[in-house]
Amino acid sequence: MKLSRRDFFGAAGVGAAGVVALGAGGVAAGRAAAADDPAAAGGAGGVVPFHGDHQAGIVTPAQDRLHFVAFDVTTTDRSALVRMLQAWTEAARRMTRGEDAGPIGAVAGDEYAPPDDTGEALGLPPAGLTITIGFGPTLFRTADGVDRFGLADRQPAELVELPAFAGEELRPEISGGDICVQACADDPQVAVHAVRNLARIGQGVVGVCWSQLGFGRTSSTTSDQATPRNLFGFKDGTANLKSDQPQALDRFVWVSGTGTWMDGGSYLVSRRIRMLVEVWDRQNLRDQQDTVGRTKGSGAPIGRTGEFDPVDPATLPATSHVALAHPSSSGTAILRRGYSFVDGSDGLGRLDAGLFFLCYQSDPSTGFVQVQRNLRTDKMNEYVKHTSSGVFACPPGLTGDDDWWGSGLFA
Ligand code: HEM
Repeated sequence: MKLSRRDFFGAAGVGAAGVVALGAGGVAAGRAAAADDPAAAGGAGGVVPFHGDHQAGIVTPAQDRLHFVAFDVTTTDRSALVRMLQAWTEAARRMTRGEDAGPIGAVAGDEYAPPDDTGEALGLPPAGLTITIGFGPTLFRTADGVDRFGLADRQPAELVELPAFAGEELRPEISGGDICVQACADDPQVAVHAVRNLARIGQGVVGVCWSQLGFGRTSSTTSDQATPRNLFGFKDGTANLKSDQPQALDRFVWVSGTGTWMDGGSYLVSRRIRMLVEVWDRQNLRDQQDTVGRTKGSGAPIGRTGEFDPVDPATLPATSHVALAHPSSSGTAILRRGYSFVDGSDGLGRLDAGLFFLCYQSDPSTGFVQVQRNLRTDKMNEYVKHTSSGVFACPPGLTGDDDWWGSGLFA
């Protein structure tokens, strides 16, 4: 008998609501009990539709957990890469519905064959899982210009390595990558399960280059989400671009009008930013607030009372983070979607903690790069260190069951 994760729930009597298909951006009730809780919409338990104009996981209400992975392609065979991307898409489609990665499942197959799902998500709800894919510049051309898969003439002009920034200490072994996958969910095990199964399916075609776990979203991507706090203890995401600002998203986040495979897509920049929390924790409250440009309690701009009161950079300390990052100073906007991390300690009595900063934009040079350049005098630079960097072209959403990640790119 074949038993999928869905059957497993049914058999166990955990819940049988089934998956309801919704349009792009909507959230359907999943089959697990947690999904029936309206407070869980877009969060614990729910199914986020996999198909739509744009990939899920960008303006989707930010889930609480992240597993981000960068792969290097190890084959030279273009058709093997295409087949893997098709297999990945099918597995991702299933896993975001809360099913096993493969049609047989973790426990129902031949006893003498490896299962087509690794099993650690059995019994878990879909948990709002989104799986978002992006292609790095090195997929198109090696550093010395070799066209690896006949894709060189498909490389968008916007997809180039980021320039160097003052003060960064990038570690090459945790930077870059040919393909990235951002798995977000409200259950860390569901996100890890998704990445692990894609890595398993990709064996022989791709290898994991580096990966990062994240907890505690540090942004809101919809207006009805409460603003979370980052590891400096400040509300983060207050002035983020939000899913209910379609005009701003069209202007700053989605690629359009290029007539290329990227229309409807977006560019992702990833930065692992170590936060020197022990140094930060010795600063007085006033200094911390002057560094951010907002008050620590309410999140209001300094001199104002409400979190969402308008920001006027001229009234804030000139070197505060918000004064410099605000659109009226930087001349642009980005959609932030990062997560906190604590990767143990550094052997010197300090936490290896920080923010895994993720942001989406229609062009990295007028998005992240422009803001980051404007932050060169940011007082916050005393407390942060960028240690990893990546830039990826995330294609548009999938049109339906026959579509696959890379269909436009490889067409
Ligand atoms: C560890 C590093 C960082 C920390 C702790 C941090 C923290 C914050 C906080 C607390 C806010 C105010 C709340 C909000 O409006 O969201 C903020 C705003 C913002 N940050 Fe950061 N941030 C970091 C890195 C970055 C980087 C690398 C960029 C982009 C290059 C960036 C871009 C922005 C932008 C655009 C805003 C909104 C400014 C506004 O419109 O008022 N941040 N950040």
